[in-house]
Amino acid sequence: MIIWVLVACSGQKLTVEELRDPAACADCHPDHHREWSGSMHAYASEDPVFRALNERGQEETGGELGDFCVKCHAPMAVELGLTTDGTNLDEVPDHLLGVTCYYCHQVDAVEGEHNNPLRIAGDALMRGGIPDPVDNKAHDSAYSPLLDRGELESSDLCGSCHDIVTPLGAHIERTYSEWQGSLFSDPLFGLNCGSCHMKGRDGVAADAEDTKLRRVHDHSMPGVDIALTPFPEREAQRAAVEELLDDTVVANLCVQPPAKDATSTAVIVYLDNAAAGHSFPSGATADRRVWLEIEAFADGERIWSSGVIGDDEAFAEHVASSPTRVNKLHSTLFDEADQATHFFWETASIDDDDLLVAHTTLDTTDPAYVETVQVRPVSVTGAADRIRMSLKVRPLPLDLVDELIDEGRLDPAIRSEIPTFTLAPTVLEWTAGAPVNTGNLSCVPEPPVNPG
Ligand code: HEC
Ligand code: HEC
Ligand code: HEC
Ligand code: HEC
Ligand code: HEC
Repeated sequence: MIIWVLVACSGQKLTVEELRDPAACADCHPDHHREWSGSMHAYASEDPVFRALNERGQEETGGELGDFCVKCHAPMAVELGLTTDGTNLDEVPDHLLGVTCYYCHQVDAVEGEHNNPLRIAGDALMRGGIPDPVDNKAHDSAYSPLLDRGELESSDLCGSCHDIVTPLGAHIERTYSEWQGSLFSDPLFGLNCGSCHMKGRDGVAADAEDTKLRRVHDHSMPGVDIALTPFPEREAQRAAVEELLDDTVVANLCVQPPAKDATSTAVIVYLDNAAAGHSFPSGATADRRVWLEIEAFADGERIWSSGVIGDDEAFAEHVASSPTRVNKLHSTLFDEADQATHFFWETASIDDDDLLVAHTTLDTTDPAYVETVQVRPVSVTGAADRIRMSLKVRPLPLDLVDELIDEGRLDPAIRSEIPTFTLAPTVLEWTAGAPVNTGNLSCVPEPPVNPG
């Protein structure tokens, strides 16, 4: 009799095949579904730049690249054997593309530190951070520390996909290892990936019977990328990216007020990665273009500039033609012959010295804190009476995009979709006469400590 009841109940629940479809969650978890549907996790296999690069990588390596890229960008399709190299993604049913609900909520072990070593149970049990889930008609539920942002292990789940070692052994994306080396992974501090990337709010975890008020977590997970083609929640995602980036860096623009007839003006920009639990930028640091724009004026005329790059101008072209050094914050990949490259499959090493590393202490008077703040001296030609700066972030390099367009791998319409963000709190202006407030420097805003 009891056995019969169990069978009858489980008969009503969704099958594994049904649970793999994010649309099957939308009725009861509408917010989770909406937020996820606009996320880069949902976009991961659709991203046209991803498709173009994977295609080129497969061609250039004669297929040896294999499932390297799709293991992270279409993990469910790889798990089910529906793709081995990502060149047939158009034939894979849409609901199995991207990093899906079922994929994350099925992880039952993390068996490594990079290149997606996650073990998928493949059953009908949804694992999550709720210790006492109420019964529901669709699926069984269970608590897992891997999916609880209150537990350090939850960073292993996110982190091992957010850490890439190339086939030639270069550790090119290091978000997880950067976090491991930071203050944030210290158990006393304990800020995990989800603590910062999945904001909590009070609400119900499901629109279903008998649910209680809980802490529920945002699934839109903004970073730096936005969808480059029509996609759900695009405007919301873009606004969330801008908000996150605006919170990240604290900048101070300091000037040594020049004498009237001086031939140069000494400027120092201090940059502090105040809010990221890893470097800024992190992850795809070689694809990002992150730089300082600085302009100097005298008597209302612009007398000098650095990093003034038009929204449709490629960073690389600007650097090639600009007489002054551009202050960059992103990294560069190199192949075995030490030539700069855009492509993971030929990357043997990385130069990421320009990133703003994460703090290892919160004590602003600790020398370790002071060292983490980057000091960038800039020599302006001429005696300036006004200086403006801002920090710019562009998710992808336009020269790479142009190359992929020329090769016929990418729709030319994508180019104008690549945004250039200006981080609002880093838009700073110094004018002659401002008080000298830090040693012999005049700083806007005045730094909380003297980081010199
Ligand atoms: C018939 C409604 C319904 C459907 C359909 C449904 N769920 Fe749920 N789900 C619930 C309820 C109810 C809970 C428990 C909420 C609570 O206890 O506050 C829940 C809990 C969860 C949890 C938390 C488990 C835990 O212990 O932390 C996860 C994860 C989850 N669902 C994922 C999914 C996914 C993924 C889908 C789609 C494949 C899905 N659900 C479809 C109703 C549903
Ligand atoms: C299966 C591998 C995988 C797992 C697990 C995973 N991610 Fe991701 N994540 C990706 C991929 C792939 C992208 C980028 C997709 C794209 O832009 O094409 C991404 C994108 C992101 C972004 C946006 C980055 C940007 O610049 O726009 C954030 C933030 C993020 N993930 C955080 C997390 C967090 C937090 C977790 C754990 C709860 C997590 N990820 C788990 C693979 C994964
Ligand atoms: C203390 C808060 C905090 C923690 C902890 C944290 N992040 Fe972030 N993350 C941020 C902020 C702020 C940004 C935006 C600045 C940036 O791009 O680095 C960001 C950006 C990102 C990006 C986009 C990076 C880029 O520049 O393209 C990814 C991907 C990401 N985080 C994943 C993770 C993962 C995975 C973890 C855990 C291993 C994690 N984050 C831990 C705050 C945090
Ligand atoms: C990148 C991995 C990832 C993806 C993709 C993902 N989730 Fe989650 N989800 C999590 C994590 C991590 C938590 C737990 C947060 C916590 O409790 O700290 C969570 C929590 C939940 C919960 C419990 C309530 C809450 O907000 O904590 C539900 C329900 C849920 N997810 C449903 C979904 C649905 C539905 C989808 C797809 C539409 C989805 N998730 C996609 C990682 C993911
Ligand atoms: C270990 C997992 C992993 C592997 C392997 C991987 N990616 Fe990604 N990919 C990610 C994550 C995570 C992000 C988001 C990174 C960030 O925002 O910093 C991402 C972002 C991207 C993006 C979005 C734009 C950008 O650069 O941020 C493209 C395009 C991309 N990857 C292409 C590829 C290609 C092509 C390959 C194979 C040569 C590949 N990826 C291999 C995890 C992976």
